[in-house]
Amino acid sequence: MSGPNTNHDPVPVAALDPEAIEQAVQDALDACAGATDLAGLKSIRHSHQGDKSPLALANREIGGLPPGEKAEAGKRVGQARGRVAQAFKARQAELEAERDERILVEETLDLTVGTPHHRLGARHPISLVTERIEDIFVGMGWEIAEGPEIESEWLTFDALNIGKDHPARGEQDTFFVEPQDGGVILRTHTSPVQIRTMLERTPPIYVLCPGKVFRTDDLDATHTPVFHQFEGLVVDEGITMAHLRGALDTFVQGLFGEGIITRLRPNYFPFTEPSAEIDCRCWVCQGEDARCRTCGGTGWIELGGSGMVNRRVLASAGVDPDRYTGFAFGLGIERSLMLRHGVADMHDIIEGDVRFSSAFGMEI
Ligand code: DAH
Repeated sequence: MSGPNTNHDPVPVAALDPEAIEQAVQDALDACAGATDLAGLKSIRHSHQGDKSPLALANREIGGLPPGEKAEAGKRVGQARGRVAQAFKARQAELEAERDERILVEETLDLTVGTPHHRLGARHPISLVTERIEDIFVGMGWEIAEGPEIESEWLTFDALNIGKDHPARGEQDTFFVEPQDGGVILRTHTSPVQIRTMLERTPPIYVLCPGKVFRTDDLDATHTPVFHQFEGLVVDEGITMAHLRGALDTFVQGLFGEGIITRLRPNYFPFTEPSAEIDCRCWVCQGEDARCRTCGGTGWIELGGSGMVNRRVLASAGVDPDRYTGFAFGLGIERSLMLRHGVADMHDIIEGDVRFSSAFGMEI
């Protein structure tokens, strides 16, 4: 017996052995099923579908088969590769679905969780009202003038014709800067800015002087030791009380509304002569409700003091009283705010709680 003719007799190719192919398919399917995530699946894919995988090698062997066997071997290998590809595709789809599911759970936003809440700040209503008042006078062509809060006694009292025996000079109203007889105080009103302005400028003078003032009052619902005033001063040739009235009417209409008028009542201030208390028509009841809570049924609301600048004050500030006349007025800003917005308690204005301020909005 002759041995096999190795040149001509077909030798079974191990890689194409049906069992070997089935084994390769089985290995691939097992590996696929064993992959627990997409990265794992990707890492084993090459050994079962890559160029050097058993099935790829088997595929390559088909070319060397006798023509009669090619078709069958091709079919077998093709089907095997198809099953493996199918298995990978299916596993891939499964793992992708699992991943998507997991992401949906893990990355869900819990909209019920509270976020850190940062309350927005708000400008204080004293600043807002001050600016509104300034705008009204600037609209009439006036300028804003300011002075220091720590002021000389001379500018605060003497130059304003407030004699040594005036109650406002007594210790009960005035904060003194030590030493007590040093002539330096915290200003008790904005009127010293009148004197500073007349000393610094020559008429015509049309200024509004807003600012903080200090008095030794205890804090309660209607008083505070630190509050705000605005002072008006006009000095020009031929100024009369009619000009004062016109300026005040324009002011109250700008702040409280169209048609609101003022009333001047005789009064006394050392720095004005004649002097008058300023009232304005109640903008809530217009004088028609005897039980109105804003004006107490009087129909008028007291706003502050005013008058024609006293000749002695003009002279002490270096202004010729024979050539010039002037008017002045002084009003409290807290009072205007309380009246305009119905704020009942001073504590709300001075405590600085943003919830109070934000109720006035963010007017800029
Ligand atoms: N300075 C006064 C006060 O604080 C207010 C005042 C009244 C100012 C009459 C004036 C004025 O300019 O003419 O109580």
